[in-house]
Amino acid sequence: MRLVILDDYDLASEWAAKYIRNRIIKFKPSPERYFTLGLPTGSTPYGCYQKLIEYYRSGDISFKYVKTFNMDEYVGLPRAHPESYHSYMWNNFFKHIDIDPANAHILDGNAVDLETECQAYEKKITEAGGIELFVGGIGPDGHIAFNEPGSSLVSRTRVKTLAKDTIVANARFFGNDLSKVPTMALTVGVGTVMDAKEVMILITGAHKAFALYKAIEEGVNHMWTVSAFQQHPRTIFVCDEDATLELRVKTVKYFKGTNSKHNKLQANYSFWEESSDLN
Ligand code: GLP
Repeated sequence: MRLVILDDYDLASEWAAKYIRNRIIKFKPSPERYFTLGLPTGSTPYGCYQKLIEYYRSGDISFKYVKTFNMDEYVGLPRAHPESYHSYMWNNFFKHIDIDPANAHILDGNAVDLETECQAYEKKITEAGGIELFVGGIGPDGHIAFNEPGSSLVSRTRVKTLAKDTIVANARFFGNDLSKVPTMALTVGVGTVMDAKEVMILITGAHKAFALYKAIEEGVNHMWTVSAFQQHPRTIFVCDEDATLELRVKTVKYFKGTNSKHNKLQANYSFWEESSDLN
C-alpha cells in the first residue's frame, strides 16, 4: 500500500490526475489495446477531472483508446437529472475530452431488470480485459462506491440499499432534502474493484479522516469496506493533510518519508516502477 499525502485538495487532485495521465501515456493505448479506467463521482474527484481536461486540451493526453467504467449510479433517478452520475460524468468530464461515448460505461439505474444490468456490467468489464487502474472515492463511513458498511468484501456489481449515513452525506446534492435522495443504487462490488490491476483511492477533507484511519491503521473489516484494499497488491491512497488528522504521527512520517522522492511524479511514469518495496 502507498499513502501519498499532499498539502491540500488542489495538490492532491493534481497528483492524482498526473498519475492517471502518466499511466495512460505509458500504456500506449491503441485500437488493438485500450486502456481501461474505473472512475468515481462525487466532489472529491472533481478537481482531478478538471486537471485531466487541462491535459487533454494542452495535447498531453488523448482518451480515444480509453474505456471507462464508472463505479455506481442511483436507482430510479432519471439519467438527465442533474444529480445522476450520468449527468455528473458527462458535464464534468466526458463532454470535454475525446472519449468515444460508446466506451464510457455507466450502470443504468433505470434498467428494467437491474440484476441483469449488473451482470452485464461485470461481463463488459471482463470483455474489456479487466480494469487497469480503478480510481475510487469513499464516503465518510468508509464505503467505497456504494458498498455500504456490512457489504461483502468479495461482492460483485449489484443493487444496494443506501445507508442512512450515505443518504445524509449526499443530501447536499439534493437541496439538503433527505426525501429527495434516492434510497437505492447500483454499484460495482468490492471484489470488482479488487480485481483491478491497480487501485487509487482519493480521500480529502477532515470529515474523511476517521475513515482513512480505519482504512489503513486498523484491520480489514466489512464495516469499513475501503479497508479491503489492504489486501490489494497495488493500492495508492491519495489524500490531503486534513484527511490524515486521525492517523498516528509515525504513520504520517513514514509515508511522507517514502514518498518524498516519488512526489516528483511529473518525471515518473509509474509509482510502482520507481519503488523497490512493492506492497
Ligand atoms: C457517494 C458515491 C461514492 C463517492 C462518495 C464520496 O457515496 N457512491 O462513489 O466516493 O459519495 O463523495 P464525495 O467525494 O462527494 O465526498
